[in-house]
Amino acid sequence: MTRGHLQIVVCAAGPAADVTHLIAAAKKQSWTAAVTATPSALDFIDAGAIERLTGHPVRSTYRSSPNTRRSLPAADALIIAPATYNSANKIALGIADNYAMTTVAELIGRQVPTVVVPFVNAALATRAPFQRAVASLRDERVRVFLGPDDGWEPHPPGSGNSRQRAFPWTAAFEAATRMAGDVPANSTDRS
Ligand SMILES: Cc1cc2nc3c(=O)[nH]c(=O)nc-3n(C[C@H](O)[C@H](O)[C@H](O)COP(=O)(O)O)c2cc1C
Repeated sequence: MTRGHLQIVVCAAGPAADVTHLIAAAKKQSWTAAVTATPSALDFIDAGAIERLTGHPVRSTYRSSPNTRRSLPAADALIIAPATYNSANKIALGIADNYAMTTVAELIGRQVPTVVVPFVNAALATRAPFQRAVASLRDERVRVFLGPDDGWEPHPPGSGNSRQRAFPWTAAFEAATRMAGDVPANSTDRS
């Protein structure tokens, strides 16, 4: 039995390559998942591996094919991870300049429980536009997974490769399912 459907949006940062961890965490809790990628993120992911795991094509454009619908997918929760500096700022401002950003804009508007997990270095994170973006998303009841309470902080510039392994996929999924009113059983590990 499916407990919910998770829409995942990946942006162009190193952890995108590991989005299969999030799909696996969802499947373990009987959620289905589908991945939408920003155009730049396509270079960071193995779309074939994702499609085999999710059973859904990776979407990045509006183009329809025999297997894809033009309309937005129904979703019980939305996780944007990794969220780049670029896309986090755009989401907060409501910019919908590609299929992924359009999906995010509308799903947040539909009040689908949404978690944003930024992967930004400390230099970018101190920028006023990013600080404003985080505050503005939280004002919209978007869960921005960042800060001491989440145990997930911006990394020193140049350390992204090593931080990639610590990306909080499972914790982000748990946050999303809690928002969606579905509490996963005995799962507290971070992967
Ligand atoms: C190898 C590589 C690694 C990158 N890592 C990050 C990153 O960790 N965080 C980030 O915010 N941007 C990162 N960027 C920059 C983004 O890819 C760039 O801002 C891009 O325009 C983001 O597009 P998107 O937000 O539409 O996915 C990286 C770029 C490259 C080429």
